[in-house]
Amino acid sequence: MLFSLVLIIVTFGAIRCVVANRLPLLPQTFRESSSVLRVSEPYNVGLLSPLSSSLSSLSDREWTILSHPLHPKHNVRVKKSNICNDTAIGYTGYIDIGARHLFFYFFESRNDPDTDDVIFWTNGGPGGSSAIGLFFENGPCRIIDEDGPKFHPESWNTNANIFFVDQPVGTGFSYAEFGETVYTSEDAAVDVAAFVSVFFDNFSQFKGRSFHMAGESYGGRYLPLFASAVYDQNAVRIRAGLPPINLTSVIIGNGVMDAYKTILSYYDIQCTPASVEPFVNITACVNMKNIVGRCERWMKKACFDHFDFIDCSTAYNFCESATTAPFYHTGRNPFDISLPCHGEVFDSLCYPETVHIQNYLNNQANRAMLGVDKGFTGNWTSFNLLINTHFDSVGDILHPTTDHVAALLERGIRVLIFAGVYDLICNHVGTERWALAMEWSGKEAFVGAEMKEWLVDGKKAGLTRSAKGLTYATVDAAGHMVPYNKPKEALEMIQRWLAKEKL
Ligand SMILES: *[C@@H]1O[C@H](CO)[C@@H](O)[C@H](O)[C@H]1NC(C)=O
Ligand SMILES: *[C@@H]1O[C@H](CO)[C@@H](O)[C@H](O)[C@H]1NC(C)=O
Ligand SMILES: *[C@@H]1O[C@H](CO)[C@@H](O)[C@H](O)[C@H]1NC(C)=O
Ligand SMILES: *[C@@H]1O[C@H](CO)[C@@H](O)[C@H](O)[C@H]1NC(C)=O
Ligand SMILES: *[C@@H]1O[C@H](CO)[C@@H](O)[C@H](O)[C@H]1NC(C)=O
Repeated sequence: MLFSLVLIIVTFGAIRCVVANRLPLLPQTFRESSSVLRVSEPYNVGLLSPLSSSLSSLSDREWTILSHPLHPKHNVRVKKSNICNDTAIGYTGYIDIGARHLFFYFFESRNDPDTDDVIFWTNGGPGGSSAIGLFFENGPCRIIDEDGPKFHPESWNTNANIFFVDQPVGTGFSYAEFGETVYTSEDAAVDVAAFVSVFFDNFSQFKGRSFHMAGESYGGRYLPLFASAVYDQNAVRIRAGLPPINLTSVIIGNGVMDAYKTILSYYDIQCTPASVEPFVNITACVNMKNIVGRCERWMKKACFDHFDFIDCSTAYNFCESATTAPFYHTGRNPFDISLPCHGEVFDSLCYPETVHIQNYLNNQANRAMLGVDKGFTGNWTSFNLLINTHFDSVGDILHPTTDHVAALLERGIRVLIFAGVYDLICNHVGTERWALAMEWSGKEAFVGAEMKEWLVDGKKAGLTRSAKGLTYATVDAAGHMVPYNKPKEALEMIQRWLAKEKL
C-alpha cells in the first residue's frame, strides 16, 4: 500500500488538495411558474404539467426542469429529497449540459430561507465529491457511523441556504454519456456560472440575494475562476435585462491558489515547528532544503519567466515528489499530520469514517431517493483518481489563481482564506506566503495589518489578519477539513463573515 501510494504520488504528483466541494438549491415562490416544467419520472425525461408556485412544493418523485434563454445548452433538474432522514429540508438535482450531468444537493437555511444568504460549496481534488463536504464537514447531517445521516448542529445552513455540487463531470454522482469530459477549471467554470444564473432566475425568491462561493483544497483553483465567471457574466445578464448575481464573497479553506508555494512549504511543515515539531529526520530535511532552493529557481524560470508546459510540469512534478516522498514514510495522514493515515488515501482519504458515506451512497434505495440517474452505473467514490490525472495531464494546477483573487478584491468581492494548521497538503505556511505576496491595491494595508488571535467562547481559535476585504485566518488543531475537526469554530467564522463582522 505504501509502495503504491508513493508510486502514485511520483507518477501523477496527484494527492494535492483533495476533497470538499458542492452545491444546493431551494424553495419558495416561482414567479415564472407557468414556464416551469415537470418531468414525469426522475429517470425518464418527458414534459408534464406546469409546476406550482413554491420550491417547497417540488415533488419528491418527479423532476422539475428549468431552462434559460441565456444558457440554451444548460438545463437544471430538481426535486425534493430526504437526504438527511427527516432532519433537514433538502433537494437534489442535475445540471444537464447535453451529455454532461452535474449532481447537486441543496438545503434551505435553518433560520430564514427567504432572507438568508446563499452559499455554493465545492470540494476539491480535482475529482473530490462534495458529498464529503456535506456528510463529513459542514452539511445539515453527517454520516460518520453505520447508522446513517444524523443531525449536525454546526451545519453551515444554520443561517444560510447552501449548495453542494459534484463537479466537474466524473466526480461523485456527476457523469457523462458518450465519454464527454471536462478537464480544466476554466471549462468547469462555464457550467457553474450557467447553473448559478438558472438558479437565481428561476427560484425568484433568491433574486438579488447575497451569494458566496465557498470550498476547500483544489477549490483554491476552482473558486477564483468560478467567481470571476459569475462576476463577468453579470455584464451579459444586465445587457439581457436580467438582474446581476449578487456575488459578495469567496471563501476558501486550505486552498491551492498557488501550487508552487504550496509544495515548497511542505518543507516547513515537515522540518520546522511551523505546525507540529519537525517529524522527518535531519538527513531528509537537509536534502529537502537544498531541493526547495533549487526548485524555487527552477519553477520560476520554467513556469513564470517564460511558461513552457513541458519544462514547467517536469519541474513541478519533480519538486512535488521530492517534497512529499519523505512524508509517505511517516504513515501520517497528509490532511492531518497529527494523525496516522487510516486506509488508502485515495479511497478513505485516511479517515475511517468515510466508508460509511460510501456505503450510504452506494445503497440502491438511498440512490433512488436522491434521484441518481440510472445512467450512472458506477460506484460512488469520494475521490475520482481518473479525473485527477486528467487535470494533471493538461497542467491545470500549473496556473495559480492569484490574479483572479486580486481582480475580485479590486471589484469589492470580499475574500476569506482560512487554513487548519495540521494540514500538509494545502498548508497554512504556503497559504500565508501566497496571501502576503499577492499584488493588489490592498497589499500594503494587508501586509501591514497585525496578525491577531481570534476567539470563540473566549478561547483562541487561531490567528487572523485582515485588510481591504481580504481576511486570512488559521484554525488551531484542525486539519485540511476544518469543519470536520472544528465544527463550532468553523461555523462561528462563517457566521461572522456573512455578517461582515471581524473574526
Ligand atoms: C427561468 O428563468 C428564465 C429567465 O428569467 C426564464 O426565461 C425561464 O422561462 C424561467 N423558467 C424556466 C422553467 O425555465
Ligand atoms: C432514519 O432514522 C431512523 C431513526 O431515527 C432509523 O431507524 C432509520 O434507519 C434511518 N434511515 C436511514 C436510511 O438512515
Ligand atoms: C446584495 O446583498 C447585500 C447584502 O449582503 C444587499 O445589501 C444588497 O442590496 C444586495 N444587492 C442587490 C443588487 O440586490
Ligand atoms: C531518514 O528518512 C528518510 C526518508 O524517510 C529515510 O529514507 C531514511 O532511511 C531515514 N534515515 C534514517 C537514518 O532513519
Ligand atoms: C463497486 O463496488 C463493489 C463492491 O466494492 C465492487 O464489487 C464492484 O466491482 C464495484 N463496481 C464498479 C463498477 O467499480
